Amino acid sequence: MPADDFIVTPWHVEGDIDYDKLIKQFGTEKLSTQILDRIKKIAGEDHFMLRRGIFFSHRDMKQLLDEYEKGNKFFLYTGRGPSGHTHIGHLIPWVFAKWLQDKFGVNMYFQLTDDEKFFAKQNLTLEETNKFAHENALDFIALGFKPENTKIIINTQNIQTLYPIAAKVAKKINFSNTKAVFGFTNETNIGMIFYTSLQSAPCFLEDKPVLIPLGVDQDPHFRLTRDIAPKIGKIKPAIIHNIMIPALQGPGGKMSASEDSGTIFTTDSPEVVKKKINKYAFSGGQPDIEQHRKLGGDPDIDVSYQYLRIFFEPDDNKLKQIYDDYKSGKLLTGELKAILIEKINEFLKGHQERREKARGQLNKFLFENV
Ligand code: TYM
Repeated sequence: MPADDFIVTPWHVEGDIDYDKLIKQFGTEKLSTQILDRIKKIAGEDHFMLRRGIFFSHRDMKQLLDEYEKGNKFFLYTGRGPSGHTHIGHLIPWVFAKWLQDKFGVNMYFQLTDDEKFFAKQNLTLEETNKFAHENALDFIALGFKPENTKIIINTQNIQTLYPIAAKVAKKINFSNTKAVFGFTNETNIGMIFYTSLQSAPCFLEDKPVLIPLGVDQDPHFRLTRDIAPKIGKIKPAIIHNIMIPALQGPGGKMSASEDSGTIFTTDSPEVVKKKINKYAFSGGQPDIEQHRKLGGDPDIDVSYQYLRIFFEPDDNKLKQIYDDYKSGKLLTGELKAILIEKINEFLKGHQERREKARGQLNKFLFENV
């Protein structure tokens, strides 16, 4: 582990992330009150993920908003590496992207990198990652996107469109750059080494600025993209970063599709959700009820509370009540977990219905090669 005690890369997140330090390490900017106010003014309302610092950092939002206010629209782009079913961490940037799309009235591209996960995961075949790409697409569609202004790109199926752009990008990135950013070694397969250029490609699909909402772990790909953009005559992509939702077991790891016990998948049944939260969710409570009533719990480290704050309780007043009651000892850990279980299961019920409906809509969303 480096001196900072945490690691954040697209393929590896470890340790308790200090987001202020990460901003310095990555060279991004903290989302200032000024930027937040500008977004709020244009959108006509606030978003709880902005006010609570779930989205905490950015690159070039000021320039993007300046252009937008002059009447120059941007487009949105985000994605998923289909290594398994979708989990609730993935939904954070997608839900926020949907809000941005509605408020700013812009196009959206969603990239499914079945090639990337095939390169990165020894145990997955290309057929499997392609199958998960189709499954993950259902979760994205279930969030309410419309095929008129939203297109889904699947790398192995849209390579004809992506390749000419990726080739221009690849020519400007050398091995020592990618090695420095991702820590590649001589054993890394060459698919991985080329891959960044494919994740870059959708940034240049339209001749407009792009805004990418994403989890901060994906920033390194776009750091490289931003470096080369002017070299191929393009505008640097703007980015807005969300924090990583922790695994159920608590700080020191992000929720990840390859760790079943720490993860709530969108396909989990109500019973599985209940079991996972009760068994694994890291608690900020005291060891017994008596002490909890006397000393109170610590919501700031309690994973159930954090899930409510990050995703499942958008109402600030309700959230504050839960915070205060837990801190004072009025609310017990079991009760807090019960609140979360109900919230998740309520969300998943609707989501799973919309997800099944999306099977019949998928074709309308698929990007057609040009
Ligand atoms: P992937 O599949 O790892 O993640 C998809 C999106 O979810 C975010 N994310 C999380 N956010 C909060 N908490 C977590 N625990 C968590 N885990 C994942 C990721 O940051 C990402 O935004 N290579 C990419 C796929 C991709 C992409 C893109 C992502 C292709 N083009 C453009 C963002 C933007 C990947 O494997 O993401």
